[in-house]
Amino acid sequence: MADSKAAQGKLVALVFKHLDVVFSILRFIKPNVVFKGNALITRYEDVTEVLERDWVFQVPYAEKMDKVTNGSNFFLGMQDTEQYTRDVSNMRLTARREDISEIIKPFVDKTSMDIVAASNGKMDVVQELSRVVPTRLIGEYFGTPGWDETEFSEAATNMFQYLFYPDDPEVEKKALESAEKTRNYLDQAIAERKANRTSNDDVLERCLKLQDAGTPGMTDLDIRNNFIGLIIGAIPTTSKCVAVTLNHLFNHPELLVEAQQAARADDDEKLIQFVQESLRLNAFAAGIQRICAEDYVVAKGTLRATKIPKGTVVLAATQSAMMDWRKIRKPKEFRLDRPAYSYMHFGYGLHTCFGQYINLAQIPAIVKAVLKRNALRRVSDMKVVEPFPVSLEIEFDQ
Ligand code: HEM
Repeated sequence: MADSKAAQGKLVALVFKHLDVVFSILRFIKPNVVFKGNALITRYEDVTEVLERDWVFQVPYAEKMDKVTNGSNFFLGMQDTEQYTRDVSNMRLTARREDISEIIKPFVDKTSMDIVAASNGKMDVVQELSRVVPTRLIGEYFGTPGWDETEFSEAATNMFQYLFYPDDPEVEKKALESAEKTRNYLDQAIAERKANRTSNDDVLERCLKLQDAGTPGMTDLDIRNNFIGLIIGAIPTTSKCVAVTLNHLFNHPELLVEAQQAARADDDEKLIQFVQESLRLNAFAAGIQRICAEDYVVAKGTLRATKIPKGTVVLAATQSAMMDWRKIRKPKEFRLDRPAYSYMHFGYGLHTCFGQYINLAQIPAIVKAVLKRNALRRVSDMKVVEPFPVSLEIEFDQ
C-alpha cells in the first residue's frame, strides 16, 4: 500500500516535471480529457470557451473565502451577481487605472532601485526584493503596511496557497492562522484610520470617503474583506513572476544581454514583453480551476467535442493554451513581438486579474532595477518550495 502510494507520488511528480510535454501530447491526441469527476482542457480555443462561460464554469473559491474572511466572501469567490459587480466597481473607484502612472510606477521604481543599491552587490532577489516591493506598495498605496513586513507577506502567501492549491490540512492550519492575524490587523488599521483621518490619498482613505457618502458595500467589514482578497492576490504572485522572469533570463544569457540593454535604455515596453514571454514559457500555474454547473459540451460541432458532466472539477490549462501553435505562432520560440492575446497568466473572462495593469508596471519595474546592474550573475539556481520561489541569489558590481 505504502509502496503503491509512493509510486503514485513519483508518477504525479514526473507528470508535473514534464507538464509541457504532457500538454503537447494531449493537445494533439486528446485535447479535452474527462476522468473520475475531473476534466482537463488543453487547447487555446477550448480554454477560452470555458473561461468565457462563467455561468457554466463557476469559480470554486467561495467555501475557502468564507473561512479566510470568517463568514463572508471576496469577489473572486463570487459568481456574476449584483454583489460581484458592486464590489468590483467600488474597488475600481478606489484603485484607479491612472494611479499606475501617477503613484504605483514611481513608487515601485524608486523602492526597487533603492533596495538594489543598498545591497552591496549581493542579494537574494526573493527574500530581499520581489516579496518586499509589493508588500511596501500595499503599505504605501493601500495604506496598510501590515503588522510586520515579512510576516504580512508570509501571511498573504499562506492564504494564497490555501485558496488556490489542492487541500492540505497543514497548509489550511497555517493559512487560517494567517487569515485571523490579517483580519485583526485590518480591523485595527481601519478603526485607527477612522479615529484619525489623514490627508493621504490612499485606497483606504478613498474607501472611507465612499463609506462617508453612504455607498453600499463599503462598511468596515466590506472594506476589510476587499483588502484581504487584494493583498492575497498581490504579494506572492508578483514575487513569483519577478523571480521566474529573472531566472529565465539567467538561463538564457543572450536574452539577459538584450534585456539589460532594454533596462539601461529604460525601454519599459520591451521589458514588459520580456516578462510576458518569460512567464509564457515558465507558467505561473498550470491553469485555472472551475466547477461545471450544468452538463455542457466543450468544442461542440468539432471532432474533439467533449461532454463535461455537471459537478466536474475542470482545469482550464492556460499554460497549455499559451503553447498551442494553432493560435500562438512558433510557441517554443522566445519572441518579443507577440500580440497581447498570446498571454493568459492573468486569467481570462469575467475574473481576469484585477491587478493586470498593475502587474505590467510593477513586475518589469522590479526586474529592471536588477537588470540595470553591471556584471550581473546568478550565484545559485532559483529555489522553489512549491508553489513559490523562496530564493534566487545574485551578485553584481556596485
Ligand atoms: C503579479 C502577478 C499576478 C498574477 C500572475 C495574477 C493572476 C491572476 C489570475 C490567474 C486570476 C484569475 C483567477 C480566476 O479566474 O480564477 C486573478 C484574479 C485576480 N487577481 Fe491577480 N494576479 C497577479 C497580481 C495581482 C495583483 C497585483 C492584484 C491586486 C492588486 C491582484 C488581484 C486579483 C483579483 C482581485 C482577482 C479577481 C478578479 C475578479 O474576480 O474579477 N492580482 N489574478
